[in-house]
Amino acid sequence: MKPETKPLFNQKRNIVEQFSLSESIVVYPDDCLDMLKNIPDESIQLIVTSPPYNIGKEYEKKLHLELYIQQQAQVITECVRTLSPKGSICWQVGNYVDRGAIIPLDTALYPIFTNLHLSMRNRIIWHFEHGLHCSRRFSGRYETIIWFTKSDEYVFNLDAVRVPQKYPGKKYFKGPKVGQYSCNPLGKNPGDMWVIPNVKSNHIEKTEHPCQFPVELIERLVLSLTNEGDWVIDPFLGTGTSIIAAIRHGRRGAGAETVSKYINIAKRRINQEIEGTLRTRPMDRPVFNPISSGNSLTFCPWEKNNEQNKLFEKNQKYKKE
Ligand SMILES: C[S@@+](CC[C@H](N)C(=O)[O-])C[C@H]1O[C@@H](n2cnc3c(N)ncnc32)[C@H](O)[C@@H]1O
Repeated sequence: MKPETKPLFNQKRNIVEQFSLSESIVVYPDDCLDMLKNIPDESIQLIVTSPPYNIGKEYEKKLHLELYIQQQAQVITECVRTLSPKGSICWQVGNYVDRGAIIPLDTALYPIFTNLHLSMRNRIIWHFEHGLHCSRRFSGRYETIIWFTKSDEYVFNLDAVRVPQKYPGKKYFKGPKVGQYSCNPLGKNPGDMWVIPNVKSNHIEKTEHPCQFPVELIERLVLSLTNEGDWVIDPFLGTGTSIIAAIRHGRRGAGAETVSKYINIAKRRINQEIEGTLRTRPMDRPVFNPISSGNSLTFCPWEKNNEQNKLFEKNQKYKKE
């Protein structure tokens, strides 16, 4: 179901730097622990983030895994303190790689959440098609979002994020409901495997940040796990995606970021969102399929005499030894 894009009703639409519950958009230009300290207990409905993965990206120093987990535990503990009793926390992570061996970070972080008495509701697989090409293992094409709640009384607006049914016209053919639609006319539950393109070079949302969230990924979490006017915070804000998804749907958003060039990008994108000029990939757009879109260069590599191979043959760079 396509959600309506709603403005922030009766709320301020300017970006401030210090967190206050009376504001609605906060970009804290420093360490997330400092921002979190200023957030009152149990005041936040959704905390959603993608922390540094400790893999040596330009904005992080690669730490020993144990030290990384300790640092994450400090941030997660503060986040849980600020989380409302009906709130949710979603931690989006991939793998830590140690001399070619992978360690899925969600498994390493899971005990931190359960030791803080949170309950896991889903381990969402986010599948995408683009990324590094591995030669000694299969290329990584998914990451996970681990979703926890503080209590059993959590907000979950499933109708807001339903997706089209595969067979919407299917009806019961026998029994007491014969003739009625057998599937929910509002659409189906999107499940826990989300196929959403990641933000790589051709993506309309790409900035110079190496690992942005696609806005549509966070929109789904905002719509399902919060209500209008609620606070959404992202302790590792990057380019401001979580705030964009929040304010697009009438929520408030706050986040911290330490790198000045990303702070500037985040502010620019949030201002574009406020003005209605930010270009993003719509939530309801199907994933591009080169074959059904008529791309004649897409052939099976093992087919002899295919067009793609002929093109490669003309190019010295791809000639076989
Ligand atoms: C994986 S990126 C998040 C990208 C973000 N999801 C987006 O859509 O752009 C992690 C970000 O956390 C920032 N960061 C690292 N340590 C931080 C800290 N202690 N406090 C705040 N931000 C931090 C990094 O500079 C980086 O931009």
